[in-house]
Amino acid sequence: MTQAPRHPLTIDGRDPASLRGDPITGDRYTSAAFMQKEWDHMWTRIWHVAGRTAELEEPGDYVVHDFRHESVICVRQDDGAIKAFYNACGHRGMRLADGASSVRSFKCPYHGWRWGRDGVLEHAQDAHDFPQGNPCGKLKLKELRCATWGGFVWYTMDDNAPELLDYLAPMPDIYKNYPMDTAVRVFWMKINLNTNWKFATDNFSESYHTRTAHPQVPPWIDQDVDTARHEMYPGGHGRTVQPMRPSLSDRLPDGAPHPFDFILRQWGIDPESYPDYETKAMQGWLDLKAAKRALWRERGYVHYEHMDDEEITDSPHTVIFPNVTISFLPDNLVFFRTEPHPDDPGKCTFDLWCMAFPVEGRTEVESIMAGPQPLREAEMIWRDFDNGAGVPEIEGQIVYQDMMLAEGMQRGMHSRGYGDAYLTGQETRVRYFHEVLNDYLEGRR
Ligand code: FES
Ligand SMILES: [Fe+2]
Repeated sequence: MTQAPRHPLTIDGRDPASLRGDPITGDRYTSAAFMQKEWDHMWTRIWHVAGRTAELEEPGDYVVHDFRHESVICVRQDDGAIKAFYNACGHRGMRLADGASSVRSFKCPYHGWRWGRDGVLEHAQDAHDFPQGNPCGKLKLKELRCATWGGFVWYTMDDNAPELLDYLAPMPDIYKNYPMDTAVRVFWMKINLNTNWKFATDNFSESYHTRTAHPQVPPWIDQDVDTARHEMYPGGHGRTVQPMRPSLSDRLPDGAPHPFDFILRQWGIDPESYPDYETKAMQGWLDLKAAKRALWRERGYVHYEHMDDEEITDSPHTVIFPNVTISFLPDNLVFFRTEPHPDDPGKCTFDLWCMAFPVEGRTEVESIMAGPQPLREAEMIWRDFDNGAGVPEIEGQIVYQDMMLAEGMQRGMHSRGYGDAYLTGQETRVRYFHEVLNDYLEGRR
């Protein structure tokens, strides 16, 4: 068992006694009425990620975040703050912007009204022809609350939502040692997937599937149920903390090249120096921590400076309610997010942002899900999954293997033969996610 102090808000994520036992029925994934309830009672009340702060470096830099039929502009202000506005012109409602760019002001393509980046109307044609008075300097785009954490730009449509850091609690506290805002998004893909958005949160809330779906992982990150910590938190978030050392129960055949040997050698440790496999896995993992502690500065791994002994070698896979997952790795943050299709409960988009911490002197980094990449902010690639054919860049990767399962799960949700999940203890967080969702939908949150 990895030992680290539990955050006081932690709930045991392996103990179903913490749950009510709400059923996870198929209609949650297939019903348009359920989808509408999610919009009315949950999506309009939670915090959404619009982008990375690195996209908004200069005043006037903006990103547009489209969500179902809604659209929000987040724009850097002259004073350095970031503001969010609904992406609808105050004249007759036209969409003002899309994508990401930089502007002095937002000019509406319909009648040419010009909105300052502070949201105030600067110019309207025939300003004298408004019987109700000149709108310039008076009208303002409707503003939303906007905040940042972890190098991400967040907004909420709910004026009464908790502050972002309270909403995310205790994640900002738990991950305070990671310099998250320095991570560079070196690979960025958005994928149209024929499954309900909840597939991803369900999937990322358990590691029970990894042996079957990702047989390449246990030699790299220990997937054994008893060596992991399963944690959940009152806000609906959760994480599984797994040691990045070989599993003792899933072994590669003797003599096969082993990823852990490669990692040990990278840090100056001879994998042949251990008398047996168990000692290499367990003592090698401790030796790796010590080697990283001793060598990080001279090797330019400046992001290790404040990490503790767990963080420097391990992998807390973290779900932020309802739809954001961040895999924290010693050298990477991998961000996964699904968002519903505008109308079809059986479709979603899957965002994959592979971020890497810069290492001094390196111009190329490992992206984890898309191989080595140059250390620079990547452009977005948007594809249909197309049963895997649409995303050859990530073929065979963990996330690709997950997506290969997504459509089959969606089909299963339509079956009269499926009624509720029959869960292991280690899948407790799956049901917890649905119970927190129900709390929103049924007025308890
Ligand atoms: S709708 Fe924007 S100027 Fe008319
Ligand atoms: Fe998976």
